[in-house]
Amino acid sequence: MSVSSASAHQRIPTSSYFVHRAGVLHAESVPLDEIAAHVGTPSYVYSRAAVTDSYRSTDSALSSVPHMIAYAVKANGNLALLSQLCRLGSGADIVSGGELARALRAGFAPEKIVFSGVGKTDPEIDAALQAGIRSLHVESAPEIDAIEAIAKQRGVVAKIALRVNPDVDAATHPYIATGLHKTKFGLELDTARQLLPRLIKSPHLQLEGVACHIGSMVLSPEPIGDAVAITARFACECVAAGAKLSTLDAGGGWPILYGNEERDAQARSVFGQAIIDGMQRGGADRLGLTLVVEPGRSIVGDAGVLLTRVVYVKEQGGKRFVIVDAAMTELIRPALYHAYHAVVPVNDPKGAAESPADVVGPVCESGDFFAQDRSLPPIARGDLLVIRGAGAYGAVMGSNYNSRPFAAEVLADGAGFRVIRARQSIEDLWRHERDD
Ligand code: LLP
Repeated sequence: MSVSSASAHQRIPTSSYFVHRAGVLHAESVPLDEIAAHVGTPSYVYSRAAVTDSYRSTDSALSSVPHMIAYAVKANGNLALLSQLCRLGSGADIVSGGELARALRAGFAPEKIVFSGVGKTDPEIDAALQAGIRSLHVESAPEIDAIEAIAKQRGVVAKIALRVNPDVDAATHPYIATGLHKTKFGLELDTARQLLPRLIKSPHLQLEGVACHIGSMVLSPEPIGDAVAITARFACECVAAGAKLSTLDAGGGWPILYGNEERDAQARSVFGQAIIDGMQRGGADRLGLTLVVEPGRSIVGDAGVLLTRVVYVKEQGGKRFVIVDAAMTELIRPALYHAYHAVVPVNDPKGAAESPADVVGPVCESGDFFAQDRSLPPIARGDLLVIRGAGAYGAVMGSNYNSRPFAAEVLADGAGFRVIRARQSIEDLWRHERDD
């Protein structure tokens, strides 16, 4: 199953943040051709207002219960976006020592940082304990041993949450599904149960929560609600066994539309309600817990586009190939998950007749495409296009394959914009190499 199906027909994507005005696509009030002229292409362009609005609508989706949003830093860890989210009141969900450093650097209070991931190393655990983060989400018995040993050495009490694997099918792309028995993620409920007495007894561990995350781009709220209900029941068991829990973490996974933000606000409230209902169904609403969610994609995904220039247009084998200066090195999602991203010309095509085209990059791989058999208007060498829905898992998954420097990242804010990550230079490519 695809993350979202590649469609033969181009949807006309509407957006409050990326709008054609006077024939030119704008990011907020900044014409994208102006950004291309100043910063070059390929470049990521984010809308500050879009990030703020998606954060706020997530917050209001959960407003009926005590909650904290722990933004999943992996979706986009740019410091400017992190500090914006931090100022909005967000916490952070991290998965590495690098993300811990980034989150602290951006100003997140340690007590708002949760640490997920199946393979935390000793130095990463040590850094997290030293920083005094809110909770380490543990996923295996050996990880608990490691945390306990390091906490003992440091003479501290490690706050942990048990991430359970509720065995619920998220019905998403297999590469981003995490909540089934057969995946590497989380603890099976029975294993988690067996660990309880030992955790509660340990003077170096404090079981402060339970957590789940069944996958990403979960299109319907039911599986998330079901997973939360199972996790909530387990929270009740933990409390009955003597744990003093303060948190139930429902993970992330809320979807976006990759081209139509207008319907997204509605979806957030539906997902929020499914989680709140799940807590209730599982009986955890009486435990006085704070609900934590870890959305990444739904906060920043539709807030960003990848701005790219057409290098050539070529007809071959009865097909139209639009060859652009961005590639799978900037945005790997179509290659990796066959993911759909709307492609929109910066110059308004004003209803010009459409015909199918493949939008491809210059990298030497047949998987280097953004769209296949997509219905698009006439496109010429030198035209600018945007790839929509590129704010999450875009820049962060970039690579230097084919010695291509990382793209610039730009933040549009009203009528102004600023570069929030400079384009990597050619010298940067070999900065840590030797030539002898
Ligand atoms: N919490 C945990 C424990 C996670 O593993 C993830 C994502 C999230 C939260 C955030 O999920 P979100 O709200 O963004 O769906 N590269 C893939 C997505 C991988 C997601 C991995 N974990 C993509 O481009 O679709």
